Amino acid sequence: MTTPAWPRLDGIAYGGDYNPEQWPREVWDEDVRLMREAGVTMVSIGIFSWGLLEVREGEFDFAWLDDIIALLHANGIAVDLGTPTASPPAWFFAQYPDARAVTKDGVPLGFGARGMVSHSAPEYRTAIDRIAGALAERYGDHPAVVLWHIHNEYGVPVGEDFSPHSVRAWRRWLQDKYGSIAGLNAAWGTAFWGQHYEEWDHVGAPAIAPSTINPAQKLDWARFTDEMLRECFRIEKAAIRAHASQPITTNFMANQHHGVDLWAWADEVDIVSDDHYLWAADVEGEIGLAIAADLSRSVGDGKPWILMEHSTSAVNWQPRNVAKRPGEMARNSLSHFGRGADGILFFQWRAGRSGAEKFHSAMLPHAGTESRVFREVVDLGGKLGRLAEVQGSRVEADVAVLWDFESFWAQDLEWRPSEDVSHDERIRAFYERLWRDDITVDFALPGHDLSRYRLVVVPSQYLLTARDAANLTAYVAQGGTLVVSFFSAVVDENDAVHPGGYGAVLAEALGVRVEEHLPLREGHVTGIRVDDQVFAADVWQEDLVVTTADVRATYTAGPAEGRPAVTRNVHGEGVGWYISTRPDADGLRAIMREVYADAGVDVPATPAGVETIVRRGTDADYLIAINHDTREVSLTASGTDLLTQADVRDTLVLAGGDVAVVRLAHTAPRGDR
Ligand code: GLA
Repeated sequence: MTTPAWPRLDGIAYGGDYNPEQWPREVWDEDVRLMREAGVTMVSIGIFSWGLLEVREGEFDFAWLDDIIALLHANGIAVDLGTPTASPPAWFFAQYPDARAVTKDGVPLGFGARGMVSHSAPEYRTAIDRIAGALAERYGDHPAVVLWHIHNEYGVPVGEDFSPHSVRAWRRWLQDKYGSIAGLNAAWGTAFWGQHYEEWDHVGAPAIAPSTINPAQKLDWARFTDEMLRECFRIEKAAIRAHASQPITTNFMANQHHGVDLWAWADEVDIVSDDHYLWAADVEGEIGLAIAADLSRSVGDGKPWILMEHSTSAVNWQPRNVAKRPGEMARNSLSHFGRGADGILFFQWRAGRSGAEKFHSAMLPHAGTESRVFREVVDLGGKLGRLAEVQGSRVEADVAVLWDFESFWAQDLEWRPSEDVSHDERIRAFYERLWRDDITVDFALPGHDLSRYRLVVVPSQYLLTARDAANLTAYVAQGGTLVVSFFSAVVDENDAVHPGGYGAVLAEALGVRVEEHLPLREGHVTGIRVDDQVFAADVWQEDLVVTTADVRATYTAGPAEGRPAVTRNVHGEGVGWYISTRPDADGLRAIMREVYADAGVDVPATPAGVETIVRRGTDADYLIAINHDTREVSLTASGTDLLTQADVRDTLVLAGGDVAVVRLAHTAPRGDR
């Protein structure tokens, strides 16, 4: 059986999670009628339906699912069929109480929410194999089913599991990894605090302990947790593949949950899909959205991906759930689309009356069709319907920002030099600079072939292996521009400090040595001088020893006053920059202007608050422009606006809050946007 690269669908997929089982049969007819009105082309069903599909162990009731799939098919709406394994039924836990996940403090999780299961429990693994296989056997060749949606958001609400099943699997996993207990002792540095082991059975999970637990043990635990989830995914995938050839996905949570390594997961799925929700507390949520979208595209090696869930308006699970304002849903959707999403879906089609998510927005809100949200949903369906020709086109970036889940896991452990240092915060700061400069970014791993990028940004990558550091050094030697933020390259894969000291593995590329970290007190704002300008800087300083680098900024205050803060090093054909503090936004802008000049990266003259992205097709390039500002702006472009069919001659005028997708009259030469 060959698996198609994309669901059998025309154009950009549009739709959402649909839970017909929560509604009486007569509502279904209204649902499909309104879906057609809204231009819905695909819905995800069955994601939380296990208890209604396998009513007792091994006893299936597919009648209602047969009916709804037939109804959708008759109305030309394709199905993304979920396997319901994120939420096993009540009978399962009654029968297998030991298959519940256990918290760190030893409490087995209770029923009544979702996701309480131990992913290591053999009974769970047998059960997911059975239900996924039964669904695939029944619907594997159904013409309506164009995609399989395994599980839901692996890693939440349950990732870590301290149950006996999990601890047994953990010991097996460690034996496979290390081969000998001596290997484990060496990797974990167990000579420290008397943690030496002689027996595998003595190795426990990092549950509650009197003080901070061995960080190498915790890092392995994060890897193990991720791997257990992936093993479950593979069981389901194999069960489906035995009967079905449609592409298979599972919905990620790029940039909202760091517990699973999306680079590894992307290798397992046929199509990357992602769920993204704005953080109400973030007043510029469109930047976080762009990060998530670029990460989704990047982990899938640039291939088109599906935005599996986002919201039409407010969610229900944040402290304050802020509703989207007119036009915001379309801007969000077009930004995902511009960044490579060829499917725009929502949680959920119809707002639920009961249950914990009844205050979550939907395509069809509680207010019904006479509502702004529904009108905008219909309008968006129309817009996406006009973008079919863009499907399959690609985004090309000249700049990569490193994103390594292993480094997240390691840096998030306890007893670090300063709790004010955050990998996430540095990624956002650098990305935000690039976003404001309207420069399109890919994310990458430090071990990737980076030669296609003019510039690579390393935002506080605490864990960097010697091998990956060598890759970055070679990238510079061969002509790349590298910019490295403080607290990078500190430890190896076992959370052990690199021989030679902090950053030693990048010393050649950067031309500096870090003698000592100088974390600052909370609220202590110091300064750096860049040429004749002084900028604020906080959180961190370092005692830097310059070997071959030039000093580009010095500290004006604080423990390292008068000493180098920012350096630039020519290494081979390229340049390595090092920023040993957290400059404010203006300081980072000033430094990055110089970095761009080294890298040959042009800053387009895009008005503030506007983002533009180019998708490149085989026959044409497409400019996606989104105006987050309330003022009208003008951009330089020529072609046809696919949303309005208007001719664009030299100038694209975008009203406040508006979006445009222009088929460009001229195609830029490849690799030279
Ligand atoms: C997640 C889940 C959905 C739903 C939404 C609500 O993304 O996958 O089932 O709970 O959140 O925002």
